[in-house]
Amino acid sequence: MTDLSHADLDKQTVTKAYARWAPVYDLVFGAVFERGRELAIAAAERIGGRILEVGIGTGISLPHYSRECRLCGVDISGPMLRKAQERVAEYGLTNVEGLWVMDAENLSFPDASFDVVVAQYVVTTVPNPEATLDEFARVLKPGGEIILVSRVGAEAGLRRALEHWFQPAARKLGWRTEFSFERYERWAARSAGVKLVERRAVPPLGHFSLIRFAKEGGAETGRPTQLADSYPAARAAS
Ligand SMILES: C[S@@+](CC[C@H](N)C(=O)[O-])C[C@H]1O[C@@H](n2cnc3c(N)ncnc32)[C@H](O)[C@@H]1O
Repeated sequence: MTDLSHADLDKQTVTKAYARWAPVYDLVFGAVFERGRELAIAAAERIGGRILEVGIGTGISLPHYSRECRLCGVDISGPMLRKAQERVAEYGLTNVEGLWVMDAENLSFPDASFDVVVAQYVVTTVPNPEATLDEFARVLKPGGEIILVSRVGAEAGLRRALEHWFQPAARKLGWRTEFSFERYERWAARSAGVKLVERRAVPPLGHFSLIRFAKEGGAETGRPTQLADSYPAARAAS
């Protein structure tokens, strides 16, 4: 399936959209995405250490990580990030190292800075998803994981047609409805040292997936790369 370039997002549209969402984001998207966030956090905590959450938004996930994890967060939207800062203060989250306005596509962290990179409901909202995934892999330590929760577009049928129809409106709201899983597969296939290790459908409606990529070289850091639930054995039904 090809994704339509005319439907693609630009940074100005995204920042405008999330400035509008910021005051009501938690109310609208808090509960509905809760299960996906829980699963992503559980996967991240299995590795632990220093975790970067990209597109952290209002910081809704921050209080749910173990205080043992050191957390860094970035987002392109100042208004969303201000909510996250308020949350850090409200919950006294001393394990949060910092929150920065930063573009996921140009992270200002050195190579191999993090044990885990988490991005929940973010990859379909960035203008250049593959360049963004490249950045995630760059800042990840060998043996670490990229953990995504992301909307995956339908391959065919009524849902595919509805997603195509809704895409222009979705763009104004700040995300894509059309996004094939094949894009993740292609990205992993061309990225040296990165393996797709899990895809699992998550609510709501199974339209979203938990997607994990492992960066090889864990043995060098003394930590084995966990491939027990290797892709494609664990591939979710689309
Ligand atoms: C759908 S929200 C997800 C927020 C949060 N992760 C959650 O679980 O609800 C998408 C977030 O990604 C951010 N975002 C979009 N494009 C970005 C980019 N290029 N760089 C950094 N953050 C970006 C948006 O500002 C927004 O806060």
